Amino acid sequence: RYRDGSAGDKMNPFAEQEAWEDHQIQKATLKYGSKNKKQISDDYQFVFEDQIEFIKATVEEGDKFDDELATESLEESNAKSALEKLQEDRKTLPIYPYRDELLKAINDHQVFSCKDNCLSHTIYNVLLDGASPATVLESVIIIVGETGSGKTTQIPQYLHEAGYTKHGKVGCTQPRRVAAMSVAARVSQEMGVKLGHEVGYSIRFEDCTSDKTVLKYMTDGMLLREFLGEPDLAGYSVVMVDEAHERTLSTDILFGLDIARFRPDLKLLISSATLDAEKFSDYFDSAPIFKIPGRRFPVEIHYTKAPEADYLDAAVVTVLQIHVTQPPGDILIFLTGQEEIETAEEIMRQRTRGLGTKIAELIICPIYANLPTELQAKIFEPTPEGARKVVLATNIAETSLTIDGIKYVIDPGFCKMKSYNPRTGMESLLVTPISKASAMQRAGRSGRTGPGKCFRLYTAYNYLHDLEDNTIPEIQRTNLANVVLTLKSLGIHDLINFDFMDPPPSEALLKALELLFALSALNKLGELTKVGRRMAEFPLDPMLSKMIVASDKYKCSDEIISIAAMLSVGNSIFYRPKDKQVHADNARMNFHTGNVGDHIALLKVYNSWKETNYSTQWCYENYIQVRSMKRARDVRDQLEGLLERVEIELSSSPNDLDAIKKSITSGFFPHSARLQKNGSYKTVKHSQTVHIHPSSGLSQVLPRWAVYHELVLTTKEYMRQASFTHLKHAFQILLPSTRASLGNWNMFWVIAEIWNTNCSGVEENATRAGTSIIAAAGF
Ligand code: CDP
Ligand code: MG
Repeated sequence: RYRDGSAGDKMNPFAEQEAWEDHQIQKATLKYGSKNKKQISDDYQFVFEDQIEFIKATVEEGDKFDDELATESLEESNAKSALEKLQEDRKTLPIYPYRDELLKAINDHQVFSCKDNCLSHTIYNVLLDGASPATVLESVIIIVGETGSGKTTQIPQYLHEAGYTKHGKVGCTQPRRVAAMSVAARVSQEMGVKLGHEVGYSIRFEDCTSDKTVLKYMTDGMLLREFLGEPDLAGYSVVMVDEAHERTLSTDILFGLDIARFRPDLKLLISSATLDAEKFSDYFDSAPIFKIPGRRFPVEIHYTKAPEADYLDAAVVTVLQIHVTQPPGDILIFLTGQEEIETAEEIMRQRTRGLGTKIAELIICPIYANLPTELQAKIFEPTPEGARKVVLATNIAETSLTIDGIKYVIDPGFCKMKSYNPRTGMESLLVTPISKASAMQRAGRSGRTGPGKCFRLYTAYNYLHDLEDNTIPEIQRTNLANVVLTLKSLGIHDLINFDFMDPPPSEALLKALELLFALSALNKLGELTKVGRRMAEFPLDPMLSKMIVASDKYKCSDEIISIAAMLSVGNSIFYRPKDKQVHADNARMNFHTGNVGDHIALLKVYNSWKETNYSTQWCYENYIQVRSMKRARDVRDQLEGLLERVEIELSSSPNDLDAIKKSITSGFFPHSARLQKNGSYKTVKHSQTVHIHPSSGLSQVLPRWAVYHELVLTTKEYMRQASFTHLKHAFQILLPSTRASLGNWNMFWVIAEIWNTNCSGVEENATRAGTSIIAAAGF
């Protein structure tokens, strides 16, 4: 380790290390004033228990920054009010010099587009009064600009200032909830208005807008739902589909639907942070591309010499290395999710504990969707003099959020990505290597306000040979059941010829049709049924919506929406602190008395909380996360509202567990599994070996049949949230001989038929139905 270039002392095996430490101490002493050398040396020993060696590979040159705009003296800014200061700041953003040009382009641009897809051409005829049937006026503009240039926060404000909000809202979509919320908060600050008034946001199960709202930030999924209810998007004058390069499922579907087609006057802006905008432009019939020149400083890329076995630990070590050896500047680490962020935070706190004031303060700021909003805002607070901020984020910080002051990026090279196996119908969220495009984006985050450094926790060889060039669009690696239901409810039947930017694998489409048919959301001709139409109203997975729709029949919709709400909050209901695991587990098992299954246990949790008048104290006593419960209550309220829309009465059968389980099974029978002799389970549909999750109340009971909410892959394939099923009733009806002669696939259809038709003509119908759906789908 001759980092300072000094020659090592061959006689003393520790000389290298000592020379290096001395050098660091010297530097640190210069920086932090003179201190007891021994003491500092001890600190470093602690910090540098292990070190990672990086090699500098390339220096990526960026555009030169012209600093005329950005300089402002401190006294000046102190004198100004916060609002004025924000207004000044807006003018320093790279997009500002292009404000008028951009507005002019948006105003002038009207093209004839020949986007012709699934909907009837009569609409075009009406609009154009005699023009060629497949031609419609459209105003699509692609806007490309480096992350942080001001696209998301500024363009909607420019449009507002230019009067576009006089006759409609400006909507701006974001792929992620956190981004929609935090950007809306920022813009409301810049405009000096209260969040939810003129500037608001709308995410699933949370609407923070009002009649006053003119700038509306929302997830792309929410815009898709609005489009379902109002295909002309009448309330909008401009829609900006932001972060288009992320190619999320909803963004891709919005593109394919060509949302502007009914409204020649609707301006559609598509904005992207990466330069391969040509693809978007081609897709939108050569829509013009407006480029905002970025300002970017050179970023030094460092790779590890050898692959890292534990990237989380390596990331923490690298943070500490940077902290004690590098000049001021904040650090951004890319991790894969909340759990990992929390772990990293904990390790980092442990390692810096006890160092006290000997080393400059390290402010650790995590950000993830479930973090309370006040803490989310902390990442944007300026770092105090002498301290260093380290932001632990997921992919969200790649392009959606810009944090000023980042000079160092640590990139372990992974992200959590959904993947779907159409053969088995298995969807899983896996930690996957990122693409080269992502790695470049991540590195770029360090060079926004000055030269930066990026530490990649993988080797240069890995980068060149192992990473894909681009991330595969979500539509090609996801379960499409929801999408197909949405498209069907919009009257789009010909899915094979739908104008996908990148079409999904046909096998995945087929699987989606099959599932929807099994849930009786589609009929044998692939048309939407009444059940399907009701299901489409719920912003939930089709199996969950089917469960709710079925609860009408079993007169327990009240209980079922509580269960659905609890399930959609995810895996964060129970709290299990490391030092009180036994207490926490005991508290949890109280809800499982009678081995009722996890769904009913969730219901018990919800109802007990309700009985205490939603008490926070009760949550603490029972090791339950208040925040998750509050969210479940919000979700439940919304589901209750939706029940009314689809004319399902709110009916309660609190003591009829059978009715509740039947409703659950109506939705989740595709997730059924049968106990094997060795205590594992086999899924009915694919004969896949799975296990009951250790956290499940049934893990000691092992019922013969189970339905599960989802599969998670950790050390094994686990079923999460399992319940006893009523499938055994279904099988008892079948003669044993028939049971043997049916393969698994047919068995699945038999079950589907039983649940959908009350057991008439079971086997025959099922087999026929199974094949006809495939024919109907046009395969
Ligand atoms: O969308 P784009 O990546 O082009 O940039 P932006 O999100 O509009 O961000 C522009 C600037 O606003 C950033 O440089 C941040 O300094 C600031 N910003 C902020 O301070 N807090 C936020 N929540 C969002 C943006
Ligand atoms: Mg943005």
